[in-house]
Amino acid sequence: MKTKVWAHRGASAYAPENTLEAFELAVRQQADGVELDVQLTKDGKLAVIHDETIDRTCNGLGNVKDYTMAELKQFSCNKTHPEYTAAVIPELKEVLKLLKPTDLNVNIELKTGVYRYKGIEEKVLKLVKKMEMEERVIYSSFHHPSIIKIKKLDPEAKTGVLYSDGWIHVVAYAKLMGADALHPSVNNLRSEKLIKESKKKKIPLHVWTVNEEALMDYLAEQGIGAIITNYPDIARRIVDQKG
Ligand code: G3P
Ligand code: MG
Repeated sequence: MKTKVWAHRGASAYAPENTLEAFELAVRQQADGVELDVQLTKDGKLAVIHDETIDRTCNGLGNVKDYTMAELKQFSCNKTHPEYTAAVIPELKEVLKLLKPTDLNVNIELKTGVYRYKGIEEKVLKLVKKMEMEERVIYSSFHHPSIIKIKKLDPEAKTGVLYSDGWIHVVAYAKLMGADALHPSVNNLRSEKLIKESKKKKIPLHVWTVNEEALMDYLAEQGIGAIITNYPDIARRIVDQKG
């Protein structure tokens, strides 16, 4: 199957990561999907932001969990791309609303590794169901109990095992926990062993963060499941060249 192009935190090379602007651009750049990160606010809302704090991306300081969603909306989040003066932290429901009319896949990464954000799995599943987007969502997390919980709550939900260090029996591990895909760091793909094994066991690889053209080309040639990249436009061109 043709390798998919998923925009990492939206088209984040060109617009502030995890903002509506970055997701809109990913659609325009003809990505097949987007990857985004979710944290929980003080008032239990699903905020789309990578870090536990707003310090790096927004013009403020502090933990996401210590602000209400309305308070978070007061901050500009265009630190990396100052020309985007209107960029703010979106709520997950806003992103899903934006993507609903498209056919893009959505990889929702639950950022539960630092703070547990009790109940986040239930909230995300409920929202996706309400939006009737279950078919094109895949859940991932570095904190594997979260994806185990997602599967337990909804056996139909698709999950991906997110990891950054090389493991020896990762395909078997994914099978054991009932996951549908592996989400390895690109640094784990310097040999073809994992690619071969994943094909054999029918566990697709969704690889992040692939920003080098030569790597995109290699992974597209190998027919991996998805390239997760900050440059969906470049990946689109490379994947399409393969026919
Ligand atoms: O989900 C793929 C990738 O986003 C995982 O790492 O730190 O960019 O969320 P990070
Ligand atoms: Mg992520």
